[in-house]
Amino acid sequence: MTTTLTPSANDTIVRGLHRNQANAMVMYQNYKKYHWLTYGPHFRDLHLLFDEHATAVLLMVDELAERSLMVDGSPLVDPAAYLPTSSIIASNGTLTMHAMITDALGNHYTQFARCTPMPPLRPTRTTSERRTSIPDSCKSTRSSAGS
Ligand SMILES: [Fe+2]
Repeated sequence: MTTTLTPSANDTIVRGLHRNQANAMVMYQNYKKYHWLTYGPHFRDLHLLFDEHATAVLLMVDELAERSLMVDGSPLVDPAAYLPTSSIIASNGTLTMHAMITDALGNHYTQFARCTPMPPLRPTRTTSERRTSIPDSCKSTRSSAGS
């Protein structure tokens, strides 16, 4: 079944996807910063937690970009557009652990508080399959070129 949206409905959806795509990229950068700069008695747990969150939001970027394409829009393609489009506050400067955690929680609620879970684009593929499954068109041809 094909659903046709009005142009204004499409624009609204694509703008929302752009904002969420930008938010995911900014959150990724924030989480990696917190991951790298974690210190103190809870170093190990927080270091790993921030990295898990960074990985999770990074996986969202491709899903969001491809959803824009699915509704005949264009994904957010220019890195320079991420900060102006994002509603997430980009981390800046030296932060205490308390400030990093507070920022991470605040941004998490900004991004996800009103969201319902997104259904997967490809319901038959799990995240681990996505990580290990390389389409034939992306596989290297180097080994066959030398023989
Ligand atoms: Fe790391």
